[in-house]
Amino acid sequence: MALRHLMSPLDLSVEETNRLLDLAVDIEHNRDKYAHRCDGKKIATLFYEPSTRTRLSFEAAMMNLGGKALGFHDASTSSVSKGETVADTIRLVSCYADICAMRHPKEGAPLVASMYSTIPVINAGDGGHQHPTQTLTDMLTIRSLKGRLENLTIGLCGDLKFGRTVHSLIESMSRYKNIRFVLISPEELRVPSYVTEEMKEKGIPYKEVIALNEETMKDLDVLYMTRVQKERFFNEEDYVRMKDFYILDAAKMAVAPKDMIVMHPLPRVNEIAPEVDKDPRAAYFKQVQYGVYARMALILTLLGLDKEDK
Ligand code: NCD
Repeated sequence: MALRHLMSPLDLSVEETNRLLDLAVDIEHNRDKYAHRCDGKKIATLFYEPSTRTRLSFEAAMMNLGGKALGFHDASTSSVSKGETVADTIRLVSCYADICAMRHPKEGAPLVASMYSTIPVINAGDGGHQHPTQTLTDMLTIRSLKGRLENLTIGLCGDLKFGRTVHSLIESMSRYKNIRFVLISPEELRVPSYVTEEMKEKGIPYKEVIALNEETMKDLDVLYMTRVQKERFFNEEDYVRMKDFYILDAAKMAVAPKDMIVMHPLPRVNEIAPEVDKDPRAAYFKQVQYGVYARMALILTLLGLDKEDK
């Protein structure tokens, strides 16, 4: 089987994405069938940037498949602190593990790793760029809870500039029929122009608004909230000015559509008030569970173990 990596959600065709999501659903309903699919396999999680969910989710995914996990979650305790390059690190990790998930503050670092790797490399978030496995998670959540990936109006709210989950989700959902985006952000945190240019090229309808109110939410099937990405700001002052720009609370939910689901890649800071957690439309904790199934399906796909007879 040819070596495959996942840098961007577009590395998977629409057909492959749908197949992967079908596999994730099968995993959800038949956990036992997959419990030994990766016996003897190892995933290396190389996290040069903080993470709770994504790293644990990859490790849990591999363990659920019968495999094991190794890696580091603090670059300062690895040889990186001695000056080792990503290229060298991946060369040796290729000798220890069968597949690798890498998170890095620099855009493109996992891509560099993939060029020197002899095992599949998964981009687990590179700077403000892409986060394809969060997108698979998000798509599985949307498809499971809304029943479709077509004919949807998706609102994305918060830090659309630095939010890599937003960029990946827009790119991937833009390939489905009749998708519209409502981009809700302060002027300073609008989506990068390369993302809007792509939407224009593909003829995807979108509008950019500032207020998160009844008028903005009225047609939404999904409201995707995001954290203001503190670590990507150049100065504290700008961050402080932006951080509480949006707070989704019970009062806002009261004027939102009855069937609008609320998603968030987590961690949340103040952008969703805890009182919203008990609203049946709050989907962000379910999203975490879907993330494990999506990553299990991805690991199987990249290792060529997605078919029973292999
Ligand atoms: C996101 C990320 O790392 O980009 N988190 C995650 O992977 N679940 C979102 C964020 O950090 O705000």
